[in-house]
Amino acid sequence: MILVTGGAGFIGSNFVLDWLACRDEPVVNLDLLTYAGNLGNLVSLRGNSRHVFVQGDVCDAALVRRLLVEYRPRAVVHLAAETHVDRSIQDAAAFVRTNVTGTYVLLEAVRDYWQALGATEREAFRFHHVSTDEVYGSLGPEDAPFTEDHPYQPNSPYSASKAASDHLVRAWHHTYGLPVVTTHCSNNYGPYHFPEKLIPLAIVNALAGKPLPLYGDGLNVRDWLYVKDHCAALRLVLERGRVGQTYNIGGWNEKTNLEIVRTICRLLDELRPDAAGPHERLITFVADRPGHDRRYAIDARKIERELGWRPAETFETGIRKTVQWYLDHPEWVAQVQSGAYRQWIATQYGRVGPA
Ligand code: NAD
Ligand code: TYD
Repeated sequence: MILVTGGAGFIGSNFVLDWLACRDEPVVNLDLLTYAGNLGNLVSLRGNSRHVFVQGDVCDAALVRRLLVEYRPRAVVHLAAETHVDRSIQDAAAFVRTNVTGTYVLLEAVRDYWQALGATEREAFRFHHVSTDEVYGSLGPEDAPFTEDHPYQPNSPYSASKAASDHLVRAWHHTYGLPVVTTHCSNNYGPYHFPEKLIPLAIVNALAGKPLPLYGDGLNVRDWLYVKDHCAALRLVLERGRVGQTYNIGGWNEKTNLEIVRTICRLLDELRPDAAGPHERLITFVADRPGHDRRYAIDARKIERELGWRPAETFETGIRKTVQWYLDHPEWVAQVQSGAYRQWIATQYGRVGPA
């Protein structure tokens, strides 16, 4: 059994689906179901006894402790977080609470549980902390991509809260010997991505004939990775990553936001042409995000060298699959946009909560 936190979110639900498709080992999935959590992402797991969903808060120490005792996981994969930079700029409270306090609560509960394990289980146990490249700050145009040794220079409330959680994880390893491993991934894209983030927002707005907002000059650079490649990397690091180490995960796909949105427009022109004209007509430059990091880029050589991981998708194959997924799932998009997925959880699942 592994315990996954945040397994109803974008990456978490992809991770749980992938895990259960390629492993026999069951998952207990702890997720608060904030606006970003959507059990509709996991509908294909209904009736699957290897998936136990628990609606709850990583800040709830009693609940976390009870789950550890009840399910006795051999590993924790910690994805639960507040994740949207723009929301963190509006109000950082939930980011500090979930990302910092929540990680602290989890670490303390896991430490007690881990210390009480027998020697063999204690040795094999892992706490896998899922972090981001954003903790490293912003690169200039000529700077080398982030390596694992890059100094921490978080610039947004989101990245600062993730950096704080990374430091707690590191300290729990150095001080208490907790067997941790931390991964720093670049921007993900793919199925079940909530349409507040650039790629899904551009797809759903373009389909609705709405403006495609680009911040500033549209030339900020992100390094994009197809979410299923991230999930494969997480499985590998959990299996073979060295305790106490950090691994950067990225797809060697640096693109400006303008290139991203233009690519999406061209794919939609091909797959779902609009009689009103090319989708690029919808591109709209809007006021920049305060403190907007200019460029992120990941040097993924360590995970490749040590664990043999490489992404399976190029940006071209991954973005085509992603656009096609949104075209094939209009009901998912409609439920997310109307907020109906939140009531739907109650009616579809009845009681969700600790099993
Ligand atoms: P997301 O916002 O889509 O999902 C977050 C999930 O966490 C949601 O299901 C939400 O309900 C849950 N959650 C929030 N607060 C919680 C709490 N207090 N207790 C329990 N559950 C709670 O996020 P995502 O994009 O899937 O990101 C997952 C993780 O990966 C995060 O830790 C994020 O920092 C990291 N990450 C994301 C990206 C990316 O591009 N999306 C890149 C690198 C790293
Ligand atoms: P986002 O998906 O929010 O991820 P992050 O800020 O964590 O990298 O944004 C990706 C890039 O797209 C970032 O440079 C901000 C930009 N962006 C826009 O230009 N317009 C938008 O409407 C959004 C949401 C983001």
